[in-house]
Amino acid sequence: MHIVSAETFSSWKEKQILKGGDNRSLNLLIDSLGGLSNKELNLIKVKLEKNVKLKISLDLLESFWDKYLYSSTPIQYLSGFSYWRDLKLEVSNKVLIPRPETELIIELITGKFNNKEKATFVDLGTGSGAISIALALGNPNWNGIATDIDKKALKIAARNFTNNSNQNNLKFYNGNWWDPLENFKGEIDLAVANPPYIPKNTYEELPIGVKNFEPKKALFGGEDGLDHIREIVQNAPLYLKEKAWMLIENHFDQGARVKQLFLKNRFTNVEVLKDFSGIGRFTIGRYK
Ligand SMILES: C[S@@+](CC[C@H](N)C(=O)[O-])C[C@H]1O[C@@H](n2cnc3c(N)ncnc32)[C@H](O)[C@@H]1O
Repeated sequence: MHIVSAETFSSWKEKQILKGGDNRSLNLLIDSLGGLSNKELNLIKVKLEKNVKLKISLDLLESFWDKYLYSSTPIQYLSGFSYWRDLKLEVSNKVLIPRPETELIIELITGKFNNKEKATFVDLGTGSGAISIALALGNPNWNGIATDIDKKALKIAARNFTNNSNQNNLKFYNGNWWDPLENFKGEIDLAVANPPYIPKNTYEELPIGVKNFEPKKALFGGEDGLDHIREIVQNAPLYLKEKAWMLIENHFDQGARVKQLFLKNRFTNVEVLKDFSGIGRFTIGRYK
């Protein structure tokens, strides 16, 4: 444990911010590597006389901050975890850092579905496991299947489930989209996916912190960004029960096209739902 006075700590913080970056990122670094939560940080501001206990020295914290500033490595990859909803999830450069806009999926799903009933759900392309773990924990009556093409990502997701719960209602399968679900044909009540959907032109222009560090296979969706969404929607009817729901996250301008794909594949009640920024981010529909 490293103990410094609150005054030393506050002037250290000021010095770091003068170098660049923003308070939110610095606080995340202090929390994830220094072990000092936002709540504790706020207390320091109020009671300047207190000492501050840190897991690592200020010098070491500063070297991580410099790495973040000068190489654009995402803080979550430097610290090895990310907060998402009420979950603390291990992340590495094998998985996408779960995004705040994706959090809304959980409310949108629970709004459509009665969680008292038993249900089998699938999260296709689970990455860190964020969506599948939140659904499994929030709905102990449901049985979940989380899939990913990347075995290393799947290992991280499985660890995240074990570390965040003592439930056993989520299983992990490796393979291409629906392929691992050969034994669940016609049995899925709910399918969710946040697939790679960034179109080629946009991918080339992504910020360095994303393009150079996050896995391409988690982001890149082909020429128009819809390669994976097309594959998922076209094959969904083989695996979904009648009246099953499916929700897919899409890029900001893909909603109308994804809606057409749903309709073409015999989905009904198809809607494009907005995220907190008013962007048509999620396409949802019912299979017949
Ligand atoms: C945009 S990330 C989403 C990760 C996570 N669901 C989330 O919301 O944070 C897409 C995920 O799909 C996986 N993926 C990419 N191609 C796939 C494929 N052909 N079959 C299954 N999963 C795939 C990637 O490895 C990645 O984990």
